[in-house]
Amino acid sequence: MRDLPNFLDVADVLGEFSADRRDLFELRVQRWWPDLHAGLSEVYSPQEVEELEARLLYLAATAVRDRDPELARLDQARTLDPGWFQREKMLGYACYADRFAGSLDGVREQISYLKELGVTYLHLMPILKPRDGDSDGGYAVADYRSVRGDLGTVDDLKRLSAALRAEGISLVADLVLNHVAKEHVWAQAARAGNPKYRDYFLTFPDRYMPDAYERTLPEVFPDFAPGNFTWDEDLQSWVWTTFNSFQWDVNWANPEVFYEYADVILFLAGLGVEVLRLDAIAFIWKALGTNCQNQPQVHSITQALRALVRIAAPAVIFKAEAIVAPQDLVHYLGQGKHHGKVSDLAYHNSLMVQIWSMLASKDARLGAHSLQHLPPVPPTTAWITYVRCHDDIGWAIDDRDAGAVGLNGYQHRAFLSDFYTGQFPGSTARGLVFQYNPATGDRRVSGSAAALVGLDAAVEAGDRVATQQSIDRLLLAYAIVLGWGGIPVIWMGDEIGLPNDQMWASEPGHADDNRWVHRPRMPWGRAEARRYPGTVSARMFSGLTHLIKVRKSAPFLDASVPAQVLELSDPGVLPVLRRHPLGSFLALYNVTPEWRPWPSWRLGGLGLWDSVDLLSGRHVNVADDGNVWLAPYASLWLVPREH
Ligand code: GLC
Repeated sequence: MRDLPNFLDVADVLGEFSADRRDLFELRVQRWWPDLHAGLSEVYSPQEVEELEARLLYLAATAVRDRDPELARLDQARTLDPGWFQREKMLGYACYADRFAGSLDGVREQISYLKELGVTYLHLMPILKPRDGDSDGGYAVADYRSVRGDLGTVDDLKRLSAALRAEGISLVADLVLNHVAKEHVWAQAARAGNPKYRDYFLTFPDRYMPDAYERTLPEVFPDFAPGNFTWDEDLQSWVWTTFNSFQWDVNWANPEVFYEYADVILFLAGLGVEVLRLDAIAFIWKALGTNCQNQPQVHSITQALRALVRIAAPAVIFKAEAIVAPQDLVHYLGQGKHHGKVSDLAYHNSLMVQIWSMLASKDARLGAHSLQHLPPVPPTTAWITYVRCHDDIGWAIDDRDAGAVGLNGYQHRAFLSDFYTGQFPGSTARGLVFQYNPATGDRRVSGSAAALVGLDAAVEAGDRVATQQSIDRLLLAYAIVLGWGGIPVIWMGDEIGLPNDQMWASEPGHADDNRWVHRPRMPWGRAEARRYPGTVSARMFSGLTHLIKVRKSAPFLDASVPAQVLELSDPGVLPVLRRHPLGSFLALYNVTPEWRPWPSWRLGGLGLWDSVDLLSGRHVNVADDGNVWLAPYASLWLVPREH
């Protein structure tokens, strides 16, 4: 095993560096090469590793040589402040560029709106060139090196990333690395008979292996893309297609594929992308007899890619999009030998699911139990916390967790589907069933946050009390994600309580996929109404911006400090503690429509006897019965008065 590569192999490139830059490059390689080497060696043969490493060193050296000076400066700044993304000041926003503002230039013109919210992280949904027609919302990429035609050009993207950077906003982009569109040049070359490219995919001449794999494989889109393999006439083979038939899974067991994606990553880094969302990362490694998700090799590959990026473009961090069971999820932030060496960020899917579950059942017991049993994550990482995103909600509730609090997992998941589609008695939620799977009974749910909390129904009925209560529910959900630590991300429209898009099915290619119901175009008129007190837009916007402002002033929320769910005193109140060196931060959330107590004696043990609620700015109020009483759907963020 070689500990360090041979710099002589890249002497021609390094010859163009100043002495300082060369020194810096060599130091970075020294720092990160062991991670790169270890990751690659867990996946590829020694000979493959040796060849690959030589090429990767060259790739990294040229990327450093060609790095835009402004980005090189950001590399330095981030190296000096590696916890930059963990701060309480971070706030994310996610949207489709076209649906938010028409184009990349349009987004640039709306930076002031994002600033008004306090955004520091902007995730633009897939912006690279997709296949024509249905492209799974852009997740079927036809060319990683060009931008979707209607959004603009690569130069527009660079201009946008620079404009965002100047305003302190990091651009987040998708890196779809499990599959490409079947129109991508690699797939085209494979179909044309080029054996090199055929090896980029997983193809099988007959059903023997596909059938063997299918025995343990789940289906992601059982409705519109059943099975995991698609017959291709040109290849005369079955191709692995986990998602839609037009999304061909790539073969990460082939080191060429690793090299290609390394190259793509450094290209995107060069455009000024600061966070790469590793789309569907859980699926990239296949192993017979498993569900082909969360395999150990996934983490080895991520570790190697991350080490390379640390060498070539350390301003860039990774975000894992792994919507998996709680115990698998924590691995994406690094457990065991990968501790702190894989993704810097990961979606806190469990928290999101538990928030919806608590709101439906008006009970925090299952949520508290599951969140308490999540293994700790490295203090150098951060969760992405969120209430809604562009996808459906799958009820990732562990059967054992449910059992531990006296629930039946299957029945509780069924209850949540019933509740959020308005079928449960008394529920006014307006979600739609997405991908009913008769084999498992799973019914995932689409719908905007407002539709799910009952706001759509309340507004339509002209019910002022129900409207306010729905707004309170949504603000409570956002208080939990803003008060957790990590990067809270607002899904476009939630800040003004946007309803379901009634016209979702009428756009070409959307009718089969009801996730479009919660991917509306931004109605700027309605956004304008945020300035008119009393409107739903204004009530949501001001409630949310208040939470954001308070969060940004609370260093207690730095993600390096873990959030710890305490034992419950009342089944309707979720207590979340963060032990920051400045003092304790205790958040209390009432997930019910009734007044609920929290015994004040517990404050003493937490150093919060004399505490203030950051959200109201008031001293904590203890009633004569010794309880702190929380109003329906209220949130308290308690900290020591002197801190
Ligand atoms: C991710 C995306 C989802 C997409 C899938 C396939 O899960 O969030 O929208 O369908 O990947 O790329």
